[in-house]
Amino acid sequence: MAFDYRIKDLKLADLGRRQLDLAEPEMPGLMAARVKHGKTKPLTGARITGSLHMTVQTAVLIETLVELGAAVRWSSCNIFSTQDEAAAAVVAGPKGSAAKPAGVPVYAWKGENLVEYWDLLDQALRFPKGKGPNLIVDDGGDATLMIHLGYQAEDDPTVLDTPSGSEDEAELKKLLKLILKEDPKRWHRILPELFGVSEETTTGVRRLAQMADNKELLIPAIDVNDSVTKSKFDNLYGCRESLIDGIKRATDIMLAGKVAVVCGYGDVGKGCAQSLRGQGARVLVTEIDPICALQAAMEGYEVTTVKKALPQADIWVTATGCVDVITAEHMAKMKNQAIVCNIGHFDHEIDVAGLKATASIKCKPVKPQVDEWVYKDGHSIILLADGRLVNLGCATGHPSFVMSNSFTNQVLAQIELWQQRAKRVPGVRVLPRELDEEVARLHLEKIGVELTKLSPKQASYLNIKAKGPFKPKHYRY
Ligand code: NAD
Ligand code: ADE
Repeated sequence: MAFDYRIKDLKLADLGRRQLDLAEPEMPGLMAARVKHGKTKPLTGARITGSLHMTVQTAVLIETLVELGAAVRWSSCNIFSTQDEAAAAVVAGPKGSAAKPAGVPVYAWKGENLVEYWDLLDQALRFPKGKGPNLIVDDGGDATLMIHLGYQAEDDPTVLDTPSGSEDEAELKKLLKLILKEDPKRWHRILPELFGVSEETTTGVRRLAQMADNKELLIPAIDVNDSVTKSKFDNLYGCRESLIDGIKRATDIMLAGKVAVVCGYGDVGKGCAQSLRGQGARVLVTEIDPICALQAAMEGYEVTTVKKALPQADIWVTATGCVDVITAEHMAKMKNQAIVCNIGHFDHEIDVAGLKATASIKCKPVKPQVDEWVYKDGHSIILLADGRLVNLGCATGHPSFVMSNSFTNQVLAQIELWQQRAKRVPGVRVLPRELDEEVARLHLEKIGVELTKLSPKQASYLNIKAKGPFKPKHYRY
């Protein structure tokens, strides 16, 4: 099979490479992994498929996996999140060029439609000689879902005829029907050589846990999200920077003085609320969980309901991982030109399908990923990224430094899954605490952090070892 790829424009490779050059020093964890494992190449022989936003930061992850010996193919996990110049740089490769690409096959561009989305993921799962991946890097669980649903359908094709909860799911089922016709044993053939998945995000981990509970999970899974150096950094500090980046790039709105509602006060919601307040917005929070609601109240946020906030709010942000948090009925009652966006997951949190089905509503596109929806009475709302991730659809996601933490966990998880491939026990686990600490350590020097060393007396007082892994059983994050 010739070197194949599907991206927007390979000529963007030089532009992308300059951005990768800027990102690399901001990603000390990934650079350290290259130094530590570049010679031994622990991923030699591994075929890895990634389904994760094709950004500059992801490009640095991909090239790290290659440096460690893996053969990699990649697609995005979101139709709007690809940075086309990053995709081009990865295809060209660090030693190749736009004229002579010598990098990694990428299947992604900014602004895919749903048919293209699943087709591109399918391409990323097809290695030469009819092989599938040995390992998956997943963000949100779509690659895992495609393989598992495809596998189930080979035993019982009626699973593809069940009602779909979304347009995404309906398109996936259509594609799986075609694949079933063309190659009825594809997923059974590739499964024995699939040794695991490392999952990036909260919603993806929830999906894996559900599959495991239902005894449907067929492979080992590492929950990268619940490494402390992932969820307590990327979800919190990453969103603290990239939410307002997305809102600003999309609308140029002044945040100071506005009323903003953040739905969900988990890790993502905490970061979002803090950044909006930091800009001078008055922030309201909605929650279903009493502890998170109390935390929000202790931070001084008013905790209320969507319904009660409708007459006041100028900006709406969903960060729950739940469905129908903002319904079409809610949107119809919002203030004129209220900005509505989601930083949680997929397009389920805001009922965009319901909005589009609203009688006599009209869409006035402002620019890509920014639409004004005008109601019959003339008032409107401004919907960002069609209800999909605003930070990746309207901006370029989190900064490199925080993604270095997340992606160093991804690299460690991939090495672990590959080293443990002989065992291949389905189930979901997290990386050991020592590795989590190691990820943190790798990021300290870059920002000038000096750790205090325990004296033997202090260590014995705390009942922990003065040397070796620091096991702070009593410390919480
Ligand atoms: P979390 O579980 O820590 O927080 C979610 C919060 O939402 C919880 O406190 C929960 O009680 C609350 N909630 C659930 N349903 C609700 C509802 N109907 N109304 C109000 N509150 C509700 O999860 P998290 O780590 O904060 O992640 C949230 C979402 O963001 C997930 O879907 C995750 O995959 C996604 N995520 C996005 C990015 C990004 O870059 N855009 C980064 C990390 C995570
Ligand atoms: N998720 C959030 N920000 C991201 C980024 N910059 N790259 C990849 N995934 C992300």
